[in-house]
Amino acid sequence: MFYEDRGLEIAYAEGQYLWDVNGKRYLDMHTGHGVAFLGHRNPHIVNALIEQLNKVYTLSTSFRIKIRDEMLDVLSKIVPEKFEYVYLLNSGSEIVDFSLKVARKATGRKKIVYFTNSFHGRTFGALSVTSNAKYRRGVEPLLADAVQAKFNDVEGLEKIVDNETAAVIVELIQGEGGVNIASKEFAKEVRRRTLETGSILIVDEIQTGFGRTGSTWTFEQYNIVPDILLAGKAIGGGFPVSVAFLPSDITSKLESGTHGSTYGGNPLACAAVKAATEVLIQDSVPLKAAEKGSQLIDMLRKKLSGYRIVREVRGSGLMIGIDLRIEPTKIIKCLQNSGLLALKAGVTVLRLLPPYVINGDDIVYAVNSIGKCIEEASS
Ligand SMILES: Cc1ncc(COP(=O)(O)O)c(C=O)c1O
Repeated sequence: MFYEDRGLEIAYAEGQYLWDVNGKRYLDMHTGHGVAFLGHRNPHIVNALIEQLNKVYTLSTSFRIKIRDEMLDVLSKIVPEKFEYVYLLNSGSEIVDFSLKVARKATGRKKIVYFTNSFHGRTFGALSVTSNAKYRRGVEPLLADAVQAKFNDVEGLEKIVDNETAAVIVELIQGEGGVNIASKEFAKEVRRRTLETGSILIVDEIQTGFGRTGSTWTFEQYNIVPDILLAGKAIGGGFPVSVAFLPSDITSKLESGTHGSTYGGNPLACAAVKAATEVLIQDSVPLKAAEKGSQLIDMLRKKLSGYRIVREVRGSGLMIGIDLRIEPTKIIKCLQNSGLLALKAGVTVLRLLPPYVINGDDIVYAVNSIGKCIEEASS
């Protein structure tokens, strides 16, 4: 009732592929909205989870456990030094809510600025900073003092981000909203204005982070550093977990009990995040995503250049959008029939979120299948 049914029953998953109950193989460029970026059942993560399952798999965060320290240690290698504090929850929406609470508490202000075409999740807090009316309809009123600004409007920031602003929350590449890329000037101005007004800059890298766009974090490509960094999806290698990274100048303003969660930071989540981060580092995942992504984008641009229904191919690393002049559902169905799973973004965008383990043959197969389905939809 709440979810679309793609008409497939999946029986098995490995690496970049899914198999349905009839044994048909699919190249997975959906990856559960980007979750399986490290490949399905990544062996290093599977082993780490099994090992932890056989030791302790549930424990309140009131007790210390070695796997948590080990996870923190390896995480410290992939974020700027200033992020001394790490907070774990179970889903993206929850970590967004957490960050909004933290921003209000730490600043004593209420106003939160978010952007057109944003998607930050569907709990009440996250929904309050998600622009799509479709998700908000019927459940309002949402959080008061959440104010929408125009994405990529550099001039507009001066007025809307002011001394009353607790936080600005932004995706540097908007995922659900249509694979819309923030301009360098916009990101720079968001950072400048938040510093000037003492507002907290929350960068939501739940979809863009952990190597997907070709760098460990997308903010690195913009030469900015957020005040609060949010991660989710890929960071658990498939295990449901989300992470906030915070500096001590923010956490020092919070008292214990500001937030809590029964399952947040449980030993299995710690084992998954630790193992996923080891894969990220040891297998140079961001570099591979950058190389494979630019190959895929280049080939798609060539293949699709003559088609009127294709407006643009855009993206970074392995986060790719094919903006169409039609609604993409028909093409997504055609791709599924030909053994390729993709998804929609915004209203007209065919989105590809492949795992970093795709190989050259997969790329050729994807480009040819997309070419064929676009050809069919064009005639
Ligand atoms: C950028 C971004 N933020 C937040 C969320 C919400 O995450 P979750 O669905 O895990 O609650 C998503 C989910 O697609 C997302 O893409």
